[in-house]
Amino acid sequence: MISPATIQQIQGRLDIIDVVGSFVKLKKRGSNYLGLCPFHNEKTPSFTVSPGKEIYKCFGCGRSGNTISFIMEHEKYSYVEALKWLAARYGIEVEETFRTDEQKQVQQAADSLYIINSFAQQFFTRMLLETEEGQDIGLSYLKERGFREEVIKKFQLGYSPEQRDAFTREAIAKQYNPELLVKTGLVANRNDQLVDNYRGRIIFPIHNHSGKVLGFGARILKTNDKAPKYINTPENEIYVKSRLLYGSYFARQAIDKADECLLVEGYTDVVSLHQAGIENVVASGGTSLTPDQLRLIRKYTNNLTIIYDGDAAGIKAALRGLDLALEEGLNVKLVLIPDKEDPDSYVNKVGPAAFLSFINANKKDVILFQLEVALKDAGNDSTRKAEVVNRMAETISRINKAEDFTKQQDYIKQCAEILKVDENGLHTLVNKFIRDRITAQERKQPFEDAARNEENARRAEETGYDENTFNLLFKDELQEREVARILLEYGDRNWDEHQLIAEHIFEEMVDESLIDNQTVLQLLHQYRNVMHQDRSAANKNYFIYHTDTKLSSLAVSLLNLPHEESEHWRREFSQSTGYQQQLFRLSYEDFINKVKPDNSEDLMNYLKIGEDKTHEEVTSAINYLKLRKIKRLLIENQLDMEKEHSPEQFRMLSETHHHLKEMEMALSQKLGTVVIR
Ligand code: UTP
Ligand code: MN
Repeated sequence: MISPATIQQIQGRLDIIDVVGSFVKLKKRGSNYLGLCPFHNEKTPSFTVSPGKEIYKCFGCGRSGNTISFIMEHEKYSYVEALKWLAARYGIEVEETFRTDEQKQVQQAADSLYIINSFAQQFFTRMLLETEEGQDIGLSYLKERGFREEVIKKFQLGYSPEQRDAFTREAIAKQYNPELLVKTGLVANRNDQLVDNYRGRIIFPIHNHSGKVLGFGARILKTNDKAPKYINTPENEIYVKSRLLYGSYFARQAIDKADECLLVEGYTDVVSLHQAGIENVVASGGTSLTPDQLRLIRKYTNNLTIIYDGDAAGIKAALRGLDLALEEGLNVKLVLIPDKEDPDSYVNKVGPAAFLSFINANKKDVILFQLEVALKDAGNDSTRKAEVVNRMAETISRINKAEDFTKQQDYIKQCAEILKVDENGLHTLVNKFIRDRITAQERKQPFEDAARNEENARRAEETGYDENTFNLLFKDELQEREVARILLEYGDRNWDEHQLIAEHIFEEMVDESLIDNQTVLQLLHQYRNVMHQDRSAANKNYFIYHTDTKLSSLAVSLLNLPHEESEHWRREFSQSTGYQQQLFRLSYEDFINKVKPDNSEDLMNYLKIGEDKTHEEVTSAINYLKLRKIKRLLIENQLDMEKEHSPEQFRMLSETHHHLKEMEMALSQKLGTVVIR
């Protein structure tokens, strides 16, 4: 964890105009700055940055936040990563706490590998662009394939000379540690001699999502060789193949904007498509997608389009692991490139526009595609056809998230049609698979619980938190933590003319027995006390820098919940209808056209959009908490009712039950849901 002193130092140095301005072109308007929103596509600027308040707000898509959350959102960083990015920008040394010696060593090894890789990348680039051999062999090869200098530089491509130790010599002369050099896979130890591992190859550096070089893919140039086409970095502290996607660093913003991720096989496919202006593309390296890679994609979008060449080998690999994608709620489409071309050669042949329209016209649903392939394989064999029906039902049963219910129904209908089987029958079969899985899951549950507890205890030890703090940080109690988060995040803003949001929260939560977690409770108490003494002193910084580390780690962890926050966002989003959003956008544009205010601060005040969203968040957080507690009371009451009672006692219990039920209904209705997290 980053030390509070470092956080304070970073916060002291932040300049929101400088930070946001390095990603968005900003123009001064009154006391604010205005630009095109980096989070959605727009032609007229509605993205406003207030240097005074140190916040940004987009009136088009509603995203808002402070400097740190801007970096988190824009770069898809965690809170800690964002702080580190800012620290690097302002030359602040990051001091970390809660580290064991072992963790420190791993971190140091990783840092050294990054440093060596960066040195190597620069070496290979220099060899490609500035040496005669590089230009004659490497650069001319790349140019012949149609890669222009611009894209070569962007992807930091390079060339490794034929000489057996060109890189090794320079690295040793620069005093890089030989053991680490071997670990990066750049250098090999042959009969006690250190030599280059890549010779006469084109070098593709592989970047992590913040642009640091994790490793390399080195492509052979000679065709007659028996050597492998690519030599890749061996697995080490930073290069973990199952966790990376080639090109993700260059693609992330385009994926976010297009709300779609294109997946291809090879390095050259990514680079070529980029050159053609199609930037929302990453490569898996021809293997099946891993859960970690799926998660990486899910961070940006729910729409995955796999673009492979028509030959079957690659497709089979791509389709493996897709059940998982479906379970995760990804929409997966597939496009096959015709005529023995791959995306790289095809885009070079037909050009960007034709490429894109081909993709859009030929996107096939992956489940239906699987069905077609399987049916073709089965031919007229009825046993094999029955197998196909079973397999399809199993696949469809994986789409089992409440929100994807209609999708599942759709598939059942379409597959029944293609398979020529009875729709109801297929339906029953799908349900059977779902039931089977739930039963299996229930049987596994106690074991999984035990395993999780063990894992928690282990991680608690590893992270250096005492077990209480750890449980507090990583276990349940989401609703109360959410209320505490809201309090920290918005407590010092106005609820209305008379009240701060914090005051409103405390008023609403008359009953403190709503809170189980002792540290959350302590935070609430302290917040209230501080606020009573000095209204302006109670805010998130007070707790982030609190000397009681229990409180400060709670505060930091609360403000560092990308996953829960996105859950929350999804929940909110699914409730506010698209209609409302459209209406809002219209009225905003109307407003811009009619009034055209010079001062966007007026605009903010006029629209009060930020406040509105916050109000919703506050109310829903409190209501979720209340709802959970009511459910708990209901269960307790029910257990009580099952005991023996006098008729009078029983009547009271049953009245309580009705009363609680009514409250539950009312709250559920307000929240637009009966689902409780
Ligand atoms: P391809 O053979 O399609 O290579 O393998 P490519 O990148 O398109 O290269 P060109 O266009 O023929 O020059 C697809 C991907 O599979 C991995 C690499 O990630 C490659 O980009 N691969 C392939 C290896 O890792 N090792 C190999 O020997 C071959
Ligand atoms: Mn290729």
